Amino acid sequence: MHLRSTKKHWERFARTDPFWAVLTDGERKGNRWTEEDFFRTGVDSVRDELAGVREACPDLRLGSALDFGCGVGRLTQALAEHFQHVTGVDISDEMLTHARRFNRHGERVRYLLNTSDNLRQLADNSFDFVYSVITLQHMEPVFARRYIAEFVRVAAPGGVILFQIPSVSVRHTPRPFTLWPDTLLKRLYRDLRRKLAADPIMEMHGIPRAEIEALLAASGARLIRSYRYDAAGTTIESWGYLARKL
Ligand SMILES: C[S@@+](CC[C@H](N)C(=O)[O-])C[C@H]1O[C@@H](n2cnc3c(N)ncnc32)[C@H](O)[C@@H]1O
Repeated sequence: MHLRSTKKHWERFARTDPFWAVLTDGERKGNRWTEEDFFRTGVDSVRDELAGVREACPDLRLGSALDFGCGVGRLTQALAEHFQHVTGVDISDEMLTHARRFNRHGERVRYLLNTSDNLRQLADNSFDFVYSVITLQHMEPVFARRYIAEFVRVAAPGGVILFQIPSVSVRHTPRPFTLWPDTLLKRLYRDLRRKLAADPIMEMHGIPRAEIEALLAASGARLIRSYRYDAAGTTIESWGYLARKL
């Protein structure tokens, strides 16, 4: 799916059930997350992640952080409790409208729309911490690879980069045409249902671990560790990558 379509689907998620689209807990579907419970998950995750980061990088600077794929600002708001300035970037205007409404940190937090396959609107060497979770999996790997290289470019020298992405891809696009009548009928039925119900699609992709590690090295970052990242769900094998810009 191209980024234009990805954006279209996330706009629809943001309009209909934004908290659930971010944290797809089955019991909270249909706008059943409370604002308090939802944002508390962000505070807890960021606290735990930063504790791990500080162990590995005790000299982590707390000036500026980037939250790529910030959604409604669940993690951006939590990062602002640790960093002086935080930038949340997202492809969806509607997600960012929610995020701005939930901002409790005034001008210390800014939210930027980015619909391109790069982060050129952000300067080189400008962030002490670059963070992205449950985002890179929702786009074609060709784009995720470009953003990862951009994470390294925008990180300050010695800056810390932490992101998560599954290591395997899940097939969710229609299979090639088949003449088996039952499969064909199922596919037609599913496509028709999607069109009628206008269910937005949440893409799910991954990139093998070795490829990510090579990409980080080629982009100018030193991998500190890669580790199983089950917080993004256990149905698909996911990895976290902690790296430092050289
Ligand atoms: C599952 S939500 C996660 C939000 C946030 N990281 C969190 O954990 O609370 C995924 C977000 O990624 C955004 N997104 C998807 N593709 C993107 C892209 N190419 N660039 C920036 N944001 C993107 C979506 O709009 C959505 O807000």
